[in-house]
Amino acid sequence: MTINEANIAIVGATGLVGGKTLEVLAERGHYPEKLSLFASERSAGKRIAFNSREFIVEPLSSAEGKRFDIAIFAAGSAVSREWAPRFAKAGAVVIDKSSAWRDDPECPLVVPQVNEAALDSIPKGIVASPNCSTSGLVIALKPLFDSFGKPRFIFVATYQSVSGAGRGGNEALSRQRAGEDFCGIFPRPIHDNLIPVIGKIDGDGFNEEETKLCSETRKILGMSDLQLTATAVRVPVMVSHSEAVTIVFEDEVTAEKAERALESAPGLRLYRLPDFPTPLEAAGIDDVLVGRIRNTRGDARILSMFISFDNLRRGAATNAVDLMECIARRLF
Ligand SMILES: NC(=O)c1ccc[n+]([C@@H]2O[C@H](COP(=O)([O-])OP(=O)(O)OC[C@H]3O[C@@H](n4cnc5c(N)ncnc54)[C@H](OP(=O)(O)O)[C@@H]3O)[C@@H](O)[C@H]2O)c1
Repeated sequence: MTINEANIAIVGATGLVGGKTLEVLAERGHYPEKLSLFASERSAGKRIAFNSREFIVEPLSSAEGKRFDIAIFAAGSAVSREWAPRFAKAGAVVIDKSSAWRDDPECPLVVPQVNEAALDSIPKGIVASPNCSTSGLVIALKPLFDSFGKPRFIFVATYQSVSGAGRGGNEALSRQRAGEDFCGIFPRPIHDNLIPVIGKIDGDGFNEEETKLCSETRKILGMSDLQLTATAVRVPVMVSHSEAVTIVFEDEVTAEKAERALESAPGLRLYRLPDFPTPLEAAGIDDVLVGRIRNTRGDARILSMFISFDNLRRGAATNAVDLMECIARRLF
């Protein structure tokens, strides 16, 4: 069987990630004959054009009892917690974009370029796809770790676009840009501003996004004791996340050596100084752009870099479709 012959479901098809997933499927030439698009009751009956056909969005409740081969979930954690096990029990392999299953030891958390082998065991029938800010980071870290070993410490500061928060994020920035007094889903205005809090803050002072970035990076790279810390910041950019990353290695890793390790790594596009990546250049493509590679003056064990990547593609839809292709190769 091929993906085109399989029974495929997309849950959250009316959202930013669901819509981008359909785009990426089409770009890769995947036009499943049996495709079901689900969303909430609010969207039931909406029409979505795909492959010169019109699909009617169904309420998720109508999926009860139906069997799919592969289901991509992009409808938030609460929906995934309730529905992913039901889809899996009925025979689907679920690819979940939410945070619901990422910490579950029985659910692999996978970015295929980095840890495809984790797909060898899917005991619950659910494969988790990481947070958008983690997806780009691990692709940039992996070739460095392969060449230079596990580092002593990693510091990450993120610059995350509003679309990382879904349609509500885009709406808030668009309306504020148009002069409206409307914070929407954000705790403060985001236009002409930035917000150094993404999600709830825990007792140690870290917000949810920072905690997810650290724990997911450890799980994907298979390094439970990897030392890293993050500051996650929402910025008034529509699409693409960026991250300033500083890595303290055990031994010297010159910028030249690091560039050599990164230049041919899968999924990466290297920018050599004086060129540099920006979120605008990353928007609409799948590669993680990496540049500004430099050592701290006087200590070549410390390496800094700046990465930008499209959070909706690299951080979500593209990883989901990559996972679908890997799972289809194993299943069919
Ligand atoms: N945005 C990103 O960059 C990004 C990156 C990685 C992971 N993710 C994760 O991907 C998921 C989707 O994010 P998004 O950005 O696409 O959000 P979004 O634009 O807000 O879309 C949410 C989708 O979920 C559906 N939905 C909401 N409640 C539902 C319910 N009770 N039953 C069925 N469907 C329901 C919505 O349907 P209606 O249209 O009917 O409301 C919509 O299709 C989230 O878990 C998010 O954390 C997002």
